[in-house]
Amino acid sequence: MQYRQLGQTDLMVSRICFGCWQLSPRFWGDVAVEPWEAAVRKALDVGVNFIDTADAYGDGAAEAALGNLLASEGLRDRFILATKFLWNFEGPVRYPDTSYDYILRACEASLKRLRTDRIDLYQMHRFDQLTRPEEVGAALCRLKQEGKIRWIGVSNLNVEQMRMYQRHVAIDCLQPPYSLLARDVEQHELPYCLAGRIGVIAYSPLFRGLLTGKYAPGHVFTDSRQNVKYFQGAAFKRISAAVASLKPLAEEHGLTLAQLAVRWVLTHPALTSAIVGIKHPGHIEGIVAAAEDMLPAADWHHMADTLLKARNE
Ligand SMILES: NC(=O)c1ccc[n+]([C@@H]2O[C@H](COP(=O)([O-])OP(=O)(O)OC[C@H]3O[C@@H](n4cnc5c(N)ncnc54)[C@H](OP(=O)(O)O)[C@@H]3O)[C@@H](O)[C@H]2O)c1
Repeated sequence: MQYRQLGQTDLMVSRICFGCWQLSPRFWGDVAVEPWEAAVRKALDVGVNFIDTADAYGDGAAEAALGNLLASEGLRDRFILATKFLWNFEGPVRYPDTSYDYILRACEASLKRLRTDRIDLYQMHRFDQLTRPEEVGAALCRLKQEGKIRWIGVSNLNVEQMRMYQRHVAIDCLQPPYSLLARDVEQHELPYCLAGRIGVIAYSPLFRGLLTGKYAPGHVFTDSRQNVKYFQGAAFKRISAAVASLKPLAEEHGLTLAQLAVRWVLTHPALTSAIVGIKHPGHIEGIVAAAEDMLPAADWHHMADTLLKARNE
């Protein structure tokens, strides 16, 4: 496994990050916890030291499952833990809330569920236009001063939005969507982070599994993927065929299609790590080879062009 410094922090993170969104029944249905726990242990065996979760995943359930496992098996200090805040789910209706008081409460609740005294990377999940950036900055600075959070990240923000917060608090990391099928951040956000030495941890590098090439046309998705346009009809067929056409290239590199897709993401110079969504040990074991090397430029462009064509046809 290769490791990278996360931005200008003192964190040396594995290039594969273990994503915990899969423990959100709202999106992924009922994912069995035992294989998921085995996957967390397997992550350590294969050199993955970085876990990404969020308070909103299962409204606390993902953080609690992770906290209980790490605490009961004495594994907390072997991982760099990233979590997120934004959604206030204290009452019956969930809503975005980045007010000063709520951020302090959300952090306390995450620390409790994660059964830890510090969060290594605390990330704002999305932009919240209803709260002034200075208020968000003040809360995060206070949490950092108190030692409850070590470093600060944002997710799903564009450059203009990042700049708004950077006037009030140092941002160490951006978590954007990035894959062969989601390349918007190449234009502004990735160059901005590269120039400013801000870490980048990309989510959905497999486009929720679509880039693994493992679903045959006609496959019926029973989770939230059934509502995503690339998983439907003609687009699904075209993209599946484009992914399948990359098989010889994957074989040339001694990789599976899933590994090739993640290696494509990691080859971008702005990238620190790719966050892969994991349900069982086979997922984590099956992806680590992606991080062993980078792709030659010609292969990177060939893959980009192949998927761009399939997407736009
Ligand atoms: N900040 C945000 O707003 C945000 C949004 C989304 C995700 N995230 C983070 O990013 C993580 C990853 O994103 P994601 O779950 O959307 O997408 P992903 O990593 O692109 O795809 C995950 C899916 O790919 C399949 N998979 C995983 N490893 C595999 C392997 N080795 N071989 C074959 N298939 C494999 C699994 O699908 P099957 O279940 O079909 O096997 C898995 O559910 C999340 O867990 C979360 O931590 C953040």
